[in-house]
Amino acid sequence: MKHSKGNFYAIIPTFTTKRSCFAVMTQSQDYYIGLEDKYGAHNYHPLPVVLERGEGVYVWDTDGKRYYDFLSAYSAVNQGHCHPKIIKALTDQAQKLTLTSRAFYNDSLGEYEKYITNYFGFDKVLPMNTGAEAVETALKLCRKWAYEKKGIAENEAVILFATENFHGRTLGIISASTDPDSRKGFGPYLPGIQIIPYNDTDALAKALAANPNIAGFIVEPIQGEAGVMVPDEGYLKKASELCKKHNALFIADEVQTGIARTGRLLATCGNCTCEDKSCSGTPEVKPDILILGKALSGGVLPVSAVLANDEIMLCIKPGEHGSTFGGNPLANKVAIAALQVVKEEKLAENAYQLGILFRERMANINSPIIETYRGKGLLNAVVITPFEFKGEHKTAMDVCLKLRDNGLLAKPTHDHIIRFAPPLVITEAELHAACDIIETTILSFNV
Ligand SMILES: Cc1ncc(COP(=O)(O)O)c(C=O)c1O
Repeated sequence: MKHSKGNFYAIIPTFTTKRSCFAVMTQSQDYYIGLEDKYGAHNYHPLPVVLERGEGVYVWDTDGKRYYDFLSAYSAVNQGHCHPKIIKALTDQAQKLTLTSRAFYNDSLGEYEKYITNYFGFDKVLPMNTGAEAVETALKLCRKWAYEKKGIAENEAVILFATENFHGRTLGIISASTDPDSRKGFGPYLPGIQIIPYNDTDALAKALAANPNIAGFIVEPIQGEAGVMVPDEGYLKKASELCKKHNALFIADEVQTGIARTGRLLATCGNCTCEDKSCSGTPEVKPDILILGKALSGGVLPVSAVLANDEIMLCIKPGEHGSTFGGNPLANKVAIAALQVVKEEKLAENAYQLGILFRERMANINSPIIETYRGKGLLNAVVITPFEFKGEHKTAMDVCLKLRDNGLLAKPTHDHIIRFAPPLVITEAELHAACDIIETTILSFNV
């Protein structure tokens, strides 16, 4: 299920009339859920559990029950909940200086810019806050480069997107969405967009050859929201080569896949594995524009970034783009700490190794309700075949409710896919314990 479905009301009657489905719920959790229902917009469809504390791979609900967090805030909490080093950076800086705006210099932005550009191997960074803002920034940068450097006539630039993409929720971004829930009712849409099939280099080659006004191609190295769709080996490399051949920018949206999630520092790291010393931030497939967000702060603050070399980044001049909070001192210190933790704790290597273990464990569950599983590193999905159990129709949501009862939180994406993405600080013992919960839960649907 996508972040926001319009059927929030549907869960309320179920929730209040079928208490047996929500045996762990108490009045206090009802209270918090009721507040959100009454006073908040109904733009999400949360699993009914109310969390109040987190540490490492665990979160606790308001009744004190502990869960494995296998969503990690859509991969924002790669470093684990409330990582002490990141929280220290936050609280130290919070007592000194939080926000200056970009009207003035501050003493942490340059230091952060130097750190992150060296870390990922680019000349420059443009700091933003949310993932969607960073995507918008990359799209603007791509258009500006197309007019200034490629020589495309003003207002004629076209950017290629892939089917089933998810890049955020702004009007510009949803103009390129193929998901009716994201798009419908929000038109008119942004022009200058062409959509081609994901994981199809022939379609990309054709689109690039057919139109000299193609400014760039934006793609998720693995489509997370679409259900952890892993492209064929070599797709990204070929796509980047095609873009180069046609003088179009290859833009990697690594908001969800980046920062160690897929077992590499970046998912665009070509064919390297984490045993390779080459997996050090100089990817084999190097995007012209790299977009990062989520885990850039370890889930502590909204911090996002767009990275590019001078030839591209300097197309944007003072006054042409920005954000009041982008590059704020809190974010700068937090992001440095979050990136340090990824290297110090070898999170890419851990995700690589434990990802293999996770998929082995899923392969060994003998249940007809598992259609398939897939993923890279610790970004994985199990596809559930809708099934009948005790005379009732069941979906991935029912499996997630049972997982919750058994102490593990995960959320369906679409109706039949469960994404499993724990914090990357998870240990082998914890991963086995969590897989035991998943196995027991799936086998309990004895169909
Ligand atoms: C690949 C990708 N890009 C962009 C975004 C948008 O990020 P945000 O929700 O921080 O705006 C997401 C969020 O899930 C994402 O997965």
